[in-house]
Amino acid sequence: MDDKALEQIRQWFMEYLASFEMEAGEDRGNIELKRIHTIHVEDNAGLIALKEGMGDNDVLLARLSGLLHDVGRFPQYERYRTFNDGTSVNHGELGEQVVREAGVLEGLPALPDLPDLPDQEREAVLACVRYHNAYSMPDIEDAMALRLLRVVRDADKLDIWRVMAEYFESPPEVRSPAVVNHLEDRPTYSRKMLHDLALSRQCRLGDAGVMNDIKFMILSWAYTVNFSSTCRLMLERGLVERIAITLPRHAGIEDAISSLISHIRGQAEGSGTNL
Ligand SMILES: [Fe+2]
Repeated sequence: MDDKALEQIRQWFMEYLASFEMEAGEDRGNIELKRIHTIHVEDNAGLIALKEGMGDNDVLLARLSGLLHDVGRFPQYERYRTFNDGTSVNHGELGEQVVREAGVLEGLPALPDLPDLPDQEREAVLACVRYHNAYSMPDIEDAMALRLLRVVRDADKLDIWRVMAEYFESPPEVRSPAVVNHLEDRPTYSRKMLHDLALSRQCRLGDAGVMNDIKFMILSWAYTVNFSSTCRLMLERGLVERIAITLPRHAGIEDAISSLISHIRGQAEGSGTNL
């Protein structure tokens, strides 16, 4: 894997994306949101791999996995007009299918100079696409696939926190409902989800009933982060604070957030993987 191969695959991605050109308005905005998210996740993945001391090839493969991780979002949105996997399709599995069918990692006909990736690297990147959105780490044995998947899952969460912080900070009239799975912005929340967050557990999307519950869910991901570098980046970017400040004022919520921030600070002071 080298920079040139990554650039060629990036070119393929941009052309693939152009096939989902939408009319102006909400649909175009939703596709654009995922395009920008993809760029950030690629950068985050490269940064985390670098900060964790991974070799040049791993850094490039992490970037490639970040670039391709959400490729299934585009056909998902085109077909179902939603990003909710539960009511449409698993976008990780769909993304793997897209990459396999297009032969992106096996020398595209349109890219004759692109060398085939070695089998292990190709399967590791495909595992990242397939499993980046799984509730927990899958039971896979290949060390390279595990390493890259941990990086991509962290890189993805890091950017989702950015996307959501910007979303909650923006005026309601410019927010696209698809971003929060069409959940209403009401001043209530799920007691179960707050309870899970307070117990340092990962919240489940299925328990979410209003927009505030999405905040609990994404904040709870901080308990599943794989690398101390990711925690340092979260703190540097002030992401938890930006999301937490939009939650209702309630002592139980404030306690859960304080514990969460203490946890992130503790992990940020460590080194390497905290698994
Ligand atoms: Fe993503």
